[in-house]
Amino acid sequence: MGIEIKTVAVAGAGTMGQGIAISCAWAGYPVCLYDVNKQICERALTLVEQHLNHLVERGKISAPASAEILKRITVSTDPATLKADLVIEAIAEKWT
Ligand SMILES: NC(=O)c1ccc[n+]([C@@H]2O[C@H](COP(=O)([O-])OP(=O)(O)OC[C@H]3O[C@@H](n4cnc5c(N)ncnc54)[C@H](O)[C@@H]3O)[C@@H](O)[C@H]2O)c1
Repeated sequence: MGIEIKTVAVAGAGTMGQGIAISCAWAGYPVCLYDVNKQICERALTLVEQHLNHLVERGKISAPASAEILKRITVSTDPATLKADLVIEAIAEKWT
């Protein structure tokens, strides 16, 4: 008997984080993408939307399904959002 996953959080809203968020949301999970500032979070959401639109244009997914996936993805700069059933880390390794 496994643990039931109801919420997913992804730390790091870069290339990997965006892709992981789309995969998890596609599988039906509500996903919160966490990153260090609002600008990065908003950019991530824009890029996620662009990626989904591209998939619709290429006939890989329907427009309503894409909208449902997008609805499941939220962004946040609040570390409290990392208190999810499944947390996936996708943070840059380089210290800045
Ligand atoms: N992109 C790839 O193809 C790829 C493939 C395999 C592994 N990886 C690994 O995955 C990780 C992420 O790669 P990426 O390409 O998404 O990098 P990226 O630079 O696109 O994104 C990294 C994100 O981490 C965020 N970040 C930095 N410090 C943070 C902190 N303290 N808390 C929260 N967010 C923080 C940055 O703001 C940035 O948005 C790296 O470790 C990389 O080596 C990447």
